[in-house]
Amino acid sequence: MSNSNNNLSVSNFSTNETVLNEQNKNHFAIEIEDLKKTFDGKEFVVNGMNLKIPKGSLTVIIGYSGTGKSVLIKHILGLYKPTSGNLRILNEDVLKMTPDQMTKFRCRFGVLFQGSALFDDMNVLENVCFPLIEHRRHLSLEQVNEIAIQKLRMVGLDPKHFNKLPNQISGGMQKRTGLARALALDPEIMFYDEPTTGLDPILTEMVDNLILNTHQQRKGMTSVVISHDLGAAFRIGDHIAMLDSGKCVLFGTPEEFMKSDIDLVKRFINKGMKHS
Ligand SMILES: Nc1ncnc2c1ncn2[C@@H]1O[C@H](COP(=O)(O)OP(=O)(O)O)[C@@H](O)[C@H]1O
Ligand SMILES: [Mg+2]
Repeated sequence: MSNSNNNLSVSNFSTNETVLNEQNKNHFAIEIEDLKKTFDGKEFVVNGMNLKIPKGSLTVIIGYSGTGKSVLIKHILGLYKPTSGNLRILNEDVLKMTPDQMTKFRCRFGVLFQGSALFDDMNVLENVCFPLIEHRRHLSLEQVNEIAIQKLRMVGLDPKHFNKLPNQISGGMQKRTGLARALALDPEIMFYDEPTTGLDPILTEMVDNLILNTHQQRKGMTSVVISHDLGAAFRIGDHIAMLDSGKCVLFGTPEEFMKSDIDLVKRFINKGMKHS
């Protein structure tokens, strides 16, 4: 049903709208339009999501637990297909891609999940080399090493740890290694899903700063951070998106969030402020 509607609206574009669309084309890294997802055919966990994330921004997606934040990211990564709606990433219609095309396209993203998901039997350096060996076959082993070392330095890991296994380094260093690996292929979009959940306040601050520094060092890269920590959103985000019940209830700058008179946003801010 939504497809025929979309076709209709495309054929109805006036010249001005087309020009506007051309201008917008390069402006957004992620465009989500009326996205819906049901797993069981009854309950919609994403329920008419609209969200446009500007290229180069550091956007923090916030919301209570179970509001569809991770499910949304999995759609963007091509791990889930929506029940209906449109999804454009880096100007590509990802829903039209074949699995092979999607796998290749995913090399343009970096992802850091809650656990750093390092390979236990590879040392720090080998972990960061891995995506380069897989996806940059033209590089020599020397070049691969050089890039991996540069990424590890960028995230502030001391070379004395490069030959250690993940279980021989601290949680903070594991995060740094995971981030260096995610950055290995110079992603255009970097995703973080709850990167600080379960960490102590000191490590939380370190990871928040790491995300911010990484974003600032890599000009033009878009960063998307999922969090339920409003403090982090205000500290590091230039834009914030608040999700609730599978919808985006507000997208704006931190200032716009502070001024919002949406009840849910106000409650979230009050609760967040009491916490920190
Ligand atoms: N693979 C799945 N099958 C069925 N339900 C799912 C699946 N993944 C997530 N859900 C449901 O979707 C809702 C949103 O989940 P999620 O996106 O993980 O929330 P959060 O905002 O905490 O990241 C939850 O009710 C969850 O139980
Ligand atoms: Mg989640």
